Amino acid sequence: STEVKIAVFGRAGVGKSALLVRFLTKRFIWEYDPTLESTYRHQTTIDDESVAMELLDTAGQEDPLQREGHVRWGEGFIIVYDITDKGSFEDVLTFKNLLDEVKKPKNVTFILVGNKADLGHSRQVSTEEGEKLATELACAFYECSACTGEGNITEAFYELCREIRRR
Ligand code: GTP
Ligand code: MG
Repeated sequence: STEVKIAVFGRAGVGKSALLVRFLTKRFIWEYDPTLESTYRHQTTIDDESVAMELLDTAGQEDPLQREGHVRWGEGFIIVYDITDKGSFEDVLTFKNLLDEVKKPKNVTFILVGNKADLGHSRQVSTEEGEKLATELACAFYECSACTGEGNITEAFYELCREIRRR
């Protein structure tokens, strides 16, 4: 079976932990628990192939050295922003630049996720803005909600696995 190492990045509070928990358990947790650092193992089958996923939930407020170590560790990345937080969307480029910096001269494998799509009434980043950024960065884009499960979170993780395996 193939092993893939995936790290999830994004500003504090965007819902990285909630997305991972949704993917792994199909449930949602309301409590806000700033993550220190946790890893999960998840065995699954994608396109008839057995895949062992190692998932790293990073903390939005980790220090630069830790963060760099996490980028080195990862083979694929999920950059998450919160559609109700413009600043978290602006942070996406900072994360992407760090990935490029640490992984050069290799191309970085990653996807972009706009989370909290259930909070449309306080939206600050339009779907079009998300799509446009993803096009510029040449990555797949998913808008979803860890809360309601809308937006096919499973497919986002699977697509990233496929892209990692293709490399
Ligand atoms: P750090 O670990 O501190 O970097 O934050 P995080 O990115 O892991 O965020 P976390 O998953 O802890 O979620 C932050 C808060 O947003 C929590 O109160 C969650 O319940 C809430 N939240 C996460 N995802 C969603 C979502 O899709 N919709 C809504 N309405 N709330 C969400
Ligand atoms: Mg967290």
